[in-house]
Amino acid sequence: MYKDKKVVFSGIQPSGQLTIGNYLGALKNFKEFSEEYRCYYCVVDEHAITVRQNPAELRRRTYETLALYIAAGLDPEKNVLFVQSHVPGHAELGWILDCYTMFGELSRMTQFKDKSRKNADNINAGLFTYPALMAADILLYQTEMVPVGHDQKQHLELARDVAERFNQIYGDTFIVPEPFINKTPAARIMSLAEPTKKMSKSDENENATVRILDERDVIIKKFKRAVTDSETEICAREGKDGIINLMSIYGAFTGKTFEEIEREFAGRGYGDFKLAVGEACADALAPVQAEFKRLMQDKKYLEEIMLKGAMEAHHDSLRTMSKVRRKIGFTEKPRF
Ligand code: TYM
Repeated sequence: MYKDKKVVFSGIQPSGQLTIGNYLGALKNFKEFSEEYRCYYCVVDEHAITVRQNPAELRRRTYETLALYIAAGLDPEKNVLFVQSHVPGHAELGWILDCYTMFGELSRMTQFKDKSRKNADNINAGLFTYPALMAADILLYQTEMVPVGHDQKQHLELARDVAERFNQIYGDTFIVPEPFINKTPAARIMSLAEPTKKMSKSDENENATVRILDERDVIIKKFKRAVTDSETEICAREGKDGIINLMSIYGAFTGKTFEEIEREFAGRGYGDFKLAVGEACADALAPVQAEFKRLMQDKKYLEEIMLKGAMEAHHDSLRTMSKVRRKIGFTEKPRF
């Protein structure tokens, strides 16, 4: 709780160029909470290094992700926008929560299993304890609600379990957070190349993802190449994963329901439909891209936002940190 407002927290990893999955599943929804809640939106660089990153790229993407937050409509005056590694409480509470998170729980995380498969030569301890750090991000600010895409549901459940466990041992310490996952299919945008797989910013196949910053003609080309099926009808029938995914994307950008989309494209071919999806996507992203370009030319402004965000987040995190330290029996931190 911050003053009289409830808290919202979410984060995005600067581990690749953000996709329309990140945009539709998470980022686009963030601004809806800004008036009513105290909102913390974090660029989670500490999570990003669980997979090997090129240092120069990680640094650039951290700025880019922050710029995209603002370009997507998050007003830095109304939201706390900051970088995770700028606020020491995340790593501190992360370590503490490691000691209240079970090996068995972490072993069951599907993202860990997926990423271990993809990074077989670097299955490091951070990749394994990733969800405990994510729990720390959330619990540090006494968060009530966490807007995320569907793929983060399991991590959120773990964060709730860890909070409840801690509260049970030490008495009420953390608010137990609720996930906020869009009820629409936009919570799960699938790969354009393999529509049964989630669209992921680290996918090596460029045709599988549409990036928020892709140029208009690239967006249209990628949708043209999207894998569909050998039928001709545009409808949300079982087995038509590719078409359903395109309908979800089109619906998310235009506000149209599946029924409306089926009616609009009755009797028309996949080519027509794919072009319409590409155009709707490019049209919706154009203002975000323009604002992003403008912001990236003003690094000083972005650094001011980083500083302001880190100061506010750090200040707000101290209450929970000192409560946790006291409960577990750490001595009071000397001031130096
Ligand atoms: P990340 O960086 O993978 O993704 C950021 C957000 O985008 C959502 N998302 C999707 N939504 C719909 N369809 C998709 N294909 C798709 N791909 C990604 C994710 O669900 C997420 O909301 N662990 C988190 C980052 C994190 C975090 C946190 C989130 C760290 N600490 C605390 C919330 C609260 C992650 O890897 O997100």
